Amino acid sequence: MLRFESLTVREWPDPKTTAPHILPIYATSSFSFEDIQQGIRIFAREEEGHTYGRYGNPTAEATASKIAALETFSTNLNAHAVMTNAGMSAVHILVTGLLQAGDKLLTQPNIYGGTTELLQQVVAQRNIEIVYANLNDPELVEDLLKKDPSIKLIYFETPANPTLACVDIAALTAVAKQYQRWTAIDNTFATPYLQQPFLHGVDFILHSTTKYLNGHGNSIAGVVLGLNEDLFRSRIWNTMKLTGANCSPFEAWLVYQGVKTLALRMDKHCSNAQLIATTLENHPAVYKVNYPGLASHPDHPIAKKQMSAFGGMMSFELKEGFDKALSTMNKLKFCSLAPTLGDVDTLILHPASSSHLKVNPEVRRKAGISDGLIRVSVGIEDPQDILDDLLQAID
Ligand SMILES: Cc1ncc(COP(=O)(O)O)c(C=O)c1O
Repeated sequence: MLRFESLTVREWPDPKTTAPHILPIYATSSFSFEDIQQGIRIFAREEEGHTYGRYGNPTAEATASKIAALETFSTNLNAHAVMTNAGMSAVHILVTGLLQAGDKLLTQPNIYGGTTELLQQVVAQRNIEIVYANLNDPELVEDLLKKDPSIKLIYFETPANPTLACVDIAALTAVAKQYQRWTAIDNTFATPYLQQPFLHGVDFILHSTTKYLNGHGNSIAGVVLGLNEDLFRSRIWNTMKLTGANCSPFEAWLVYQGVKTLALRMDKHCSNAQLIATTLENHPAVYKVNYPGLASHPDHPIAKKQMSAFGGMMSFELKEGFDKALSTMNKLKFCSLAPTLGDVDTLILHPASSSHLKVNPEVRRKAGISDGLIRVSVGIEDPQDILDDLLQAID
């Protein structure tokens, strides 16, 4: 018979055996073994099982495996996935897990500003050179790969944040495969509902699940996926484990719940964004609208080829530039000024002073991120309320 203090400490399982309908949040840092032999077998991967929360957690693993099922939906591919504690740690473990000092990474200048900063300020410090090129120029890419075998990984975003520039995934992966280089895509803007990059030949996919996969703006997390199990386990999962980039079960659970309405939300994001982009494009005060669903977008043919619809993200420039952009943003009453995207409500951001603030202004301008550019993450509200607010602010 246990003494009082021991009884208070003891684990106390629920005596009823009914299974939960919804995946529980496994708030535990470790998992207990039936005996030491079982522990040894699980650590040696001779038996499936959990060990320590940093290595894996049932809530995070179920969420990762569901996203893997979505990214490989209707294919005979099998993807491996791991949740991370942010989209940024997903980028970090992917790049540092795959590359070593002396290797080079080829990318485009117009991606999420935080990723550009991470590559320049953290990855480049490890003697991994970052090479920039127009990834839609297969001859240029081929030339670079042919001349430089140390370019091991091509990292890209399509549609890219915030200009919605698109990269032809199949054309790029064809060149990369010819020279046996890895390709990795940030699929955050499209989600697997609109674009399945594994189908077009990429080796790795990542997401900031903070955005559309969660959809409700209440968690920060990421996911990395890969097709080659050994490579994924030894480079990606291992780096996640060693750097402590694991996702908390609570944050993973919020993503897990959000994913259930992904298709419904994305349909509405897409139809709302198409309507708003078309209306703004015809407004006399608007200089330019970046939305891949517009025939005027330079990458519309690429987007059409590889996306089933064009997403909820757009950006636009007003003819009067910077000051007018800021005053317009301050006049908004319905849309929120918030530095994130992919939530159910409409969010407005000024990239040059926030997400891309630390990107070299010269690089920023060359990438089409002008000081007057306004980014809109179009929500799933009634589109007329979004439009009314944008139009009253512009007028
Ligand atoms: C396209 C893209 N990738 C990655 C990230 C980083 O994600 P997180 O903020 O979840 O770390 C962001 C953040 O805005 C993003 O927009």
